[in-house]
This record gives sequence, C-alpha cells and structure tokens, in this order.
Amino acid sequence: MQRLPAFLKEHCTDADVARIIEGLMVACKDISYRLHLGALSGVMGSAEQENVQGECQKKLDVISNDLIKECLAAMPEVLGLASEEEPDPVACNAEGQYLVLFDPLDGSSNIDVNVTVGTIFSILKAAPGASGATAATYLQAGSEQVAAGYVLYGPSTTLMFSTGNGVHSFTLDPRIGEFLLLNDKVEIPETTSEFAINMSNQRFWLPQMQAYVADLLKGEEGPLGKRYNMRWIASMVAEIHRILTRGGIFMYPYDNRDPSKPGKLRLMYEGNPMSMLVEQAGGKASTGFDDITAIQPEAIHQRVSCIMGSAAEVSTVVGYHRD
Ligand code: AHG
Ligand code: MN
Ligand code: MN
Repeated sequence: MQRLPAFLKEHCTDADVARIIEGLMVACKDISYRLHLGALSGVMGSAEQENVQGECQKKLDVISNDLIKECLAAMPEVLGLASEEEPDPVACNAEGQYLVLFDPLDGSSNIDVNVTVGTIFSILKAAPGASGATAATYLQAGSEQVAAGYVLYGPSTTLMFSTGNGVHSFTLDPRIGEFLLLNDKVEIPETTSEFAINMSNQRFWLPQMQAYVADLLKGEEGPLGKRYNMRWIASMVAEIHRILTRGGIFMYPYDNRDPSKPGKLRLMYEGNPMSMLVEQAGGKASTGFDDITAIQPEAIHQRVSCIMGSAAEVSTVVGYHRD
C-alpha cells in the first residue's frame, strides 16, 4: 500500500501544497491519538468559553485548533490561516503563498459521546503581496481552492482529500504512524435513496425544502417514486464520508430560526471544502439556488445553506427550488 508522502510526490504537481498537506497530518495524527485515548487523556468536556460565533467550545476544539495552528505557523509555504475557532485570520510566514482555512474539530458535540468527529481543511493561493492577517485575502470563491480535505476520527482515522484531480482516501496505520492509500479515485454514485437532514428544524425551512422532504417521505407512492432511508450523525464530516463511500444526500438548508444565521454551516471551513470533494467525486453541491463553490464570500465566518451529494438527487432538490 502506498504511503501518503510517496503518493503526493507522484500525484500533486505543486510541491508546496503537498508539503502543507503532509504537515497538516502531523497535527491530525496528534488529534487522532488524543481522541482515541478519550477520557484517559483528560481532554473531554467543555472549555467553558465561547468562540467568535457564540458557540460553546469543547476542550478538544481549543486543543485541536492550537495543534493545527502551531503546525501551520512553522511552515514556510503558509502565508496565513483562518479557523472556525479564531476570531480573525492569523498571519504566518510572509514568504508563504498559501492560505489554510480549517474547522479543527467538526461535530464536536459528539466528542463526549464517543461518536465520529473530524478536521476539515481548505487551501487557497493568496494574491501576490496580500497580507495573511487580512480577511479580504481569504475571501475567494470555493472554485479557487487548490486543495481541500478532511481527516475523520472514527473507528479508524481516514484522510480524504483532493488537489483538483479526483478524490483520494487514506487510512492511518497507527502501528507505523503513516497514512496508507485506500482508494485513489473516490466516486459518488449518481443516484441514492438515503438522505441526511436534521428533521427537528423542519418548520423553519423554506417552503421549497419542506415540499421536497414531504415528497420523499411519501416513498414509493409519492412523486419521487422510491422509499428513502434517513441518517443523521450531527457530524458533517461523518455524513460526507458516508456519501463519498456509498452515496446519499446531506442537507443543512437555510432556515429562519435566527435571521442573522441563514444556514448553520460555515462557507469557508465546511461548505467550500466539502463541496470541492463532492464535486471532484462526481457529485453536486448547491445552496438550493446556486453552486456553493460559485459564491463570492463577503465575510470570513459567513454561513451557507448546504445541499450536497449524489448528483441526480441534488439536481432534484435544486428543481424544487427553481419551481
Ligand atoms: P461544529 O462542531 O464544527 O460546530 O459543526 C457541527 C455542524 C456539523 O458538523 C453538523 O452537521 C451540524 O453542525 C449538526 O448540527 P445540529 O446539532 O443542528 O444537528
Ligand atoms: Mn464544523
Ligand atoms: Mn468545529
């Protein structure tokens, strides 16, 4: 089985990007180790503070953020970083050309119940002369990403990433501390009958989303003509991993619970990187109205409606929004 460094050398045309991905994995292996020790590592529970988005941080949100930050700050290729857990972007090395945006721990409400979580990352190239400390430097559409990926900390630790030439998956062999190639071309089946959505928000969705979900719940007798199965893990990273593995549709759509947060997920740390992976694997990613990766971001912590997965099913949902 091929090891990650050898694979990157062969398949990643940009040596800087390859080094950033390899470097990031140093922090992710550390996070994986701590997560798998669980309560024994003394890192469970709340950090008793909130992040800039008013969400309660877990100790592991803070630890993972610090580990990744430390790792990126030491890389000469990295001009700056932006994190879900940092109020503002952080400048790293003035000679670097790349920006790394990340969700250090996705699904962190699942940590204390020993359910899968993950780290999501997105890599952008900075405009010449741009500052790593300025939010404007990072406000590029998802279609500009040079790489994106996640590390899933489940029963095994999996890396899934793309540098724009398909999606590749690796599993961490903890005995040797190396990521080994599993599948160099991950593809999402075009059709599916498995959906993931937090149904408790139903009454807050747009009428178009309500209509689609009402129709799919009608099963074989309804207009969609098939019986669906539902999954909700409350870790986007685990849902997308399932979809990249066997197909499906993941939705965290617009809702009107809080007008200041139209959609829960963050465009730069969750929406864009996951959309790149889904698209590179042959699927689609939309807000319901527009392709997620076509959105011109206006703020670093901006939120977005996410509907992504098997191409035919996402097209069906987009059809409901259009009509
Ligand atoms: P994070 O832990 O980084 O804040 O992200 C959690 C996200 C996402 O992973 C998941 O799909 C969603 O929040 C779950 O939200 P609900 O608790 O509303 O179901
Ligand atoms: Mn998240
Ligand atoms: Mn998070």
